[in-house]
Amino acid sequence: MEIRALHTGEQAPTELLLLADPSPKLVEDYVARGQCFVAEADQQVVGVYVLLPTRPETAELVNIAVDEEFQGQGIGKQLVNHAIQEAKRLGFKTLEIGTGNSSIGQLALYQKCGFRITGIDKDFFIRHYSEEIYENGMQVVDMIRLSQDL
Ligand code: ACO
Ligand code: ACO
Repeated sequence: MEIRALHTGEQAPTELLLLADPSPKLVEDYVARGQCFVAEADQQVVGVYVLLPTRPETAELVNIAVDEEFQGQGIGKQLVNHAIQEAKRLGFKTLEIGTGNSSIGQLALYQKCGFRITGIDKDFFIRHYSEEIYENGMQVVDMIRLSQDL
């Protein structure tokens, strides 16, 4: 499997990106402002992440997703670790990530990759999404913010 930046003019894998964020508008905005990387196996795109510069020396991993057929095989972890190395290489000092209060597996993955919880953006998903979202039997309301020094 290879993880690489999108080629110039190459279309971002929108369907995959929408697995991580149900808002087409936010996804389009992230892709336009950030840098998109894909994981490719046998010439098939199986994973994606977007690295977005936010503040001086700070970037955020705003969208990460693995094709459902390929989940649970370590690709997500490889993508997160690739993003950490890439952010370091680009000279960022801090990498941030955020996920829903209900995203138990994602919170495990990010902490296993070195992120620490720094705060809670209360009611983020109420303020920014028009529809109610449910996951693991819970409504997604708050965004858990995590960060790591690079
Ligand atoms: N308890 C403990 N550990 C857990 C749990 C849990 N409930 N769930 C997952 N994990 C761990 C796994 O054990 C594994 O760690 P390990 O290698 O130490 O065993 C790790 O978390 C996940 O492993 P991967 O197989 O690398 O993950 P995967 O390839 O399935 O990708 C991803 C994870 C990207 C979250 C994938 O499930 C996905 O695409 N989900 C849908 C989209 C999504 O929710 N994206 C994130 C939104 S937030 C954002 O984009 C910033
Ligand atoms: N994802 C989604 N839902 C989950 C997950 C998960 N990974 N793990 C548990 N749940 C849900 C279950 O699905 C269930 O909800 P549901 O009825 O809607 O399906 C609920 O959490 C737990 O169900 P119970 O069977 O009622 O819980 P249990 O009798 O096992 O008791 C407890 C839970 C007290 C935490 C028990 O596991 C325990 O004693 N653990 C060891 C001691 C401990 O950790 N105590 C808490 C320390 S913090 C404190 O005391 C304040």
